[in-house]
Amino acid sequence: MRVSKKETEKKIEALLRELTLEEKSRLIHASEFFRSGDVPRLGIPKISMSDGPMGVRNDFYPDKWFPIGTSADAVSYLPCNTAIASTWNRELARTSGEVLGREARGRGKDMILAPGINIKRNPLCGRNFEYMSEDPYLVAEMVVPLIEGIQETDVSACVKHFACNAQEWERLWVNVELDERTLREIYLPGFEAAVKRAKTKALMGSYNLVRGEHGSQSKFLLTDILRKEWKYDGLVVSDWSAVHDTKAAAESGLDLEMSVFPEFDDYFLANPLIEAVKKGEIAEEELDKKVRNILRFMLRVRLIEIELKEQKNGRTSAKAVPVEDRDPGYYNGDIMHHFAKETAREAVVMLKNEKHRLPIKPSQTKRLLVIGNNADMPQANGGGSAEIKALYEITPLMGLAREYGGNTEVRFTPGYYVPKKTGKEANWQEDSVSAEVMSDPSVRDKRKADKKEKELIKKYREDAVRLAKEYEEVVIVGGLDHNYDTEGMDRKDLKLPYEQDALINAVLEANPRAVVVMFAGSPVDMTAWSDKAQAILWMAYNGMEGGTALAEVISGTTNPSGKLPESLPADFKKTGVAVFGDYPGRKLTAAEKKKMNATLTQTFKDGIFVGYRYYEKFKVPVQYVFGHGLSYTEYKYSGMTVEKAGAKDALYTVRIKVKNTGHITGKEAVQLYVGEKVVSEANPVKELKGFDKVELAPGEEKTVSFNLTAKDFSHFSNEAGEWQQMKGKMVIYIGASSADIRAKKEVVLK
Ligand code: BGC
Repeated sequence: MRVSKKETEKKIEALLRELTLEEKSRLIHASEFFRSGDVPRLGIPKISMSDGPMGVRNDFYPDKWFPIGTSADAVSYLPCNTAIASTWNRELARTSGEVLGREARGRGKDMILAPGINIKRNPLCGRNFEYMSEDPYLVAEMVVPLIEGIQETDVSACVKHFACNAQEWERLWVNVELDERTLREIYLPGFEAAVKRAKTKALMGSYNLVRGEHGSQSKFLLTDILRKEWKYDGLVVSDWSAVHDTKAAAESGLDLEMSVFPEFDDYFLANPLIEAVKKGEIAEEELDKKVRNILRFMLRVRLIEIELKEQKNGRTSAKAVPVEDRDPGYYNGDIMHHFAKETAREAVVMLKNEKHRLPIKPSQTKRLLVIGNNADMPQANGGGSAEIKALYEITPLMGLAREYGGNTEVRFTPGYYVPKKTGKEANWQEDSVSAEVMSDPSVRDKRKADKKEKELIKKYREDAVRLAKEYEEVVIVGGLDHNYDTEGMDRKDLKLPYEQDALINAVLEANPRAVVVMFAGSPVDMTAWSDKAQAILWMAYNGMEGGTALAEVISGTTNPSGKLPESLPADFKKTGVAVFGDYPGRKLTAAEKKKMNATLTQTFKDGIFVGYRYYEKFKVPVQYVFGHGLSYTEYKYSGMTVEKAGAKDALYTVRIKVKNTGHITGKEAVQLYVGEKVVSEANPVKELKGFDKVELAPGEEKTVSFNLTAKDFSHFSNEAGEWQQMKGKMVIYIGASSADIRAKKEVVLK
């Protein structure tokens, strides 16, 4: 039975009236590390939350920051958000969301702390792998089905981190300054789509400050934009320990304070808030607003129903009761692993394939050598809060061994040495020593340890080179890992760690046919060897079936169709962030410190010129462009047409025919960009405004169509404070990547 909005709000008000001040406060702050407080007297339960974007995380002790670690919390490990975005396939975003939502519910959660959709502005940011893209349109298009998928069951997504969280360095204390246009065009569209189109039931504020206010208690972001402008009536949760002030948090659009300290009663929205209300410093109505959102959230995920009862005195009493037929969800079903595999397949990006070096046919391969620590290393359980305990994870090595079968000898050698360091937050970029080496009785001091490490590096490399000469086929699997792609830390530069450049060069010299696979959630500099390598594959953390997908692409069972959701620059110094920006931030002056609770401030001087918008505008070459990705087949684009649109709100309908001219079936992500014919100084050359992925059998041709609206030709004017449509000659480009433009047409806008 559908209950009207009015009826629902009436019930919420009735239950709210039953609550004491203390009880209200319980509902708006944590009572455990991943649960809110409850009011058993009225049947109001705790809200149960869990990270994260690649699967449902381990359960933690209520008051110890430590996983309980039972066997029951092993789950499906999904491709990370960068990998999902690399598919350019909205349907796969949806199925990934469905898996995440069902598993979260199956593990008894009400909210999954995902997806992370911050713009990948800075290639050094340690959490880039958790995010989708440098392009706001791609983010918005992929996040909508992802959230809808999660929320298909009785659980909520929690889109994060709102907003402008672009670095891990000083993430709690860095203030971001940016102009309105940059905010509106680059950093908000993904969140706006999550709120308005996907109807996310929850959203997480950021740690960083924006214009002097911490994201999780920002009046500007949470109240003015989110609540008032976007009319959001869902739940807003703080990031963990992102609240710093009782009054600011109470009076902002935040609803629920979470943190990493077990003194729950001391949280800003706990006892300090109760006292402030009692003293008349904060209005109780501020708590009421939050409680309404929390109760509404509970109703939306069907955690509770609210029962009303007419009392004899004419008053209506209310209490919460559990919903008997709430979807119980489930986890580790075969179908989940199937979806993880489908997404993983389309997330592999073929960057280069000279002389048809790939695929390597199993039937013609007697001996295959796999080099590189990443081939044999499970990745799920790393990276910070996105870590999960995977039910299983097919590593590239296992994927290849399975794919090639018993008639091929698949041999592994690590190639590069990864020190197995201990310590919780071992800082991998510091000059620390491997625990493994230190446990060797012959090693007593740092000098000896360094020597030993050097010997190991040399030995691993020499072994790899020697074997590479003997084997007909060689695959090197390197890149980053979660010692680098991780929360809480940014990289120093784009260089490959563990002396991989030297290894890859030496192997390519020994066997020029060697294929290189890069695992990474952010760009890495490949220039030391990329000219020499005939084939390069690129893959972000690709879930439990990532190794299967990779092996299938290498063998040719799967035709690659992934495309880069970000540009791959080689040198951080040549990025917009470095050239214009002041990363990691300028130290605050004493006067600024009085005004805000931060240590650094960073002005996004690159403005809207993020990613390809920067590289194209300033003609800065990158290794591989946004949207790039090759296939084992060829596609011919022809017959582009632009018509005045018939559909509602649309200005133009653009069509193009795409034909598979090769011999195998493939999928192509067709991309549409728009830009001015004579590009104004303030605008990018072009911007992504449409894409569609089509499957084509050999010889098959399909027509792909796009609708373009006035908004697609608009920019936000800082002066006027509104979106304004451009005028004059515009170009609509259709391409296989941002640089590989296959057709274009001009239109004139009045
Ligand atoms: C992260 C969030 C995460 C939370 C809970 C924070 O440090 O920034 O993304 O959901 O911890 O683990």
